[in-house]
Amino acid sequence: MRVAMIGSGYVGLVSGACFADFGHEVTCVDKDERKIAALHANVMPIYEPGLDGLVSRNVSSGRLAFTTSLAEGVADKDAVFIAVGTPSRRGDGHADLSYVYAAAKEIATALTGFTVIVTKSTVPVGTGDEVERIIREANPDAEFAVVSNPEFLREGAAIDDFKRPDRIVVGGHDARGMEVMRNIYRPISLNRAPIVEMSRRGAELTKYAGNAFLATKITFINEIADLCEKVGADVQEVARGIGLDNRIGSKFLHAGPGYGGSCFPKDTLALLKTSQEYDAPQRIVEAVVAVNDNRKRAMGRKVIHAMGGEVRGKTVAVLGLTFKPNTDDMRDSPAIAVIQTLQDAGATIQAFDPEGIEQAKPLLQNVTYATGPYEAMENADALVIVTEWDAFRALDFDRVRGLLSSPVLVDLRNIYNPAEMQALGFVYSGIGR
Ligand code: UDX
Repeated sequence: MRVAMIGSGYVGLVSGACFADFGHEVTCVDKDERKIAALHANVMPIYEPGLDGLVSRNVSSGRLAFTTSLAEGVADKDAVFIAVGTPSRRGDGHADLSYVYAAAKEIATALTGFTVIVTKSTVPVGTGDEVERIIREANPDAEFAVVSNPEFLREGAAIDDFKRPDRIVVGGHDARGMEVMRNIYRPISLNRAPIVEMSRRGAELTKYAGNAFLATKITFINEIADLCEKVGADVQEVARGIGLDNRIGSKFLHAGPGYGGSCFPKDTLALLKTSQEYDAPQRIVEAVVAVNDNRKRAMGRKVIHAMGGEVRGKTVAVLGLTFKPNTDDMRDSPAIAVIQTLQDAGATIQAFDPEGIEQAKPLLQNVTYATGPYEAMENADALVIVTEWDAFRALDFDRVRGLLSSPVLVDLRNIYNPAEMQALGFVYSGIGR
């Protein structure tokens, strides 16, 4: 199959490279000339494990190409995926669809022969209808079908998620269009991932409902963790105890400092906007958003409490800044609120992150960025683990004790065992235990 990806950001690039790896002929398009030039030199615009190898292998085989020319990319394709950004619109939380609609308009005049237009970007219910209207208006003779095919990629595990998904969701009404989608996904569905076919609106909503449900699951266990701390229970035991019930499932029950990232915060807000528009309140999701927002600053207060209630003039070592490991993404990272809360209370911050420092700099001022985890700990009055990078899972605690001026360890991801840490002489606090 011949495929175009409009937008060579996170979703477009990973999806394009994976489709090429499955044998399709893929052209990735982006307006950003610097990005395309970098991709031609095999420099990735994002950090994603394994992506550079995947891209270079498929470029060499001739199955993956990059261009800034949308018309060139779209011509003679079986399917054109719209994978441009849909950021939260400033002020009102609505998904900003201007890039999607601009892409649709441009695609319209470049179409040659029957083409499936696929919305891969996360878009509110009804966007497919509008994309169809825009294309029809711009090019009344075009032969096309619009389908919705949301992505469920996790940053840091995106290639594996793409190649071995739990399911593939495709929403559309046009038989020819659906057949093209089956052909495109055949190599992946042969790996036993079912293709769930449904209406276009159903597919659009599935993405939001899925992310809102996962955000709810995390927020639920986070509140249970708070209760565990009060009643003297261990949230990890409770999570295992409930998670082994197949109806609940053990994933996304890891208590922590609150969810962040590019998807959950943005998509829960966008779902609430849709629910208001259609007058179908989503009170559970409203509560999830509010509870998660509060939690991030509460984590800063938790650190202050662990340090005896007063941090003015004290130094805190923070390990991990990105919203989760294996990404350089700082969007809505809990580390931002934790650090700002500590700074507001008068603390000085020394921080380290394996990949996120450059992205963190514009967001977090007056932070000393260290060159490694131990450098961040020098003369600090407490050590706080905010993101569970593997590099922080086996610290040399003799060295840590020697560097810290006070042995306070706050582990917001529960990567260490409380009893072991206490035996090593640390005043340890985790989440929900
Ligand atoms: C998410 C969805 O998983 C993915 O399907 C969707 O397409 C995009 O959004 P992503 O944001 O990359 O992916 O990361 P994910 O691994 O889902 O984690 C999101 C946030 O939840 C992180 O801040 C993470 O630390 C937090 N989290 C996740 C928890 O606190 N506990 C958990 O058990 C799982």
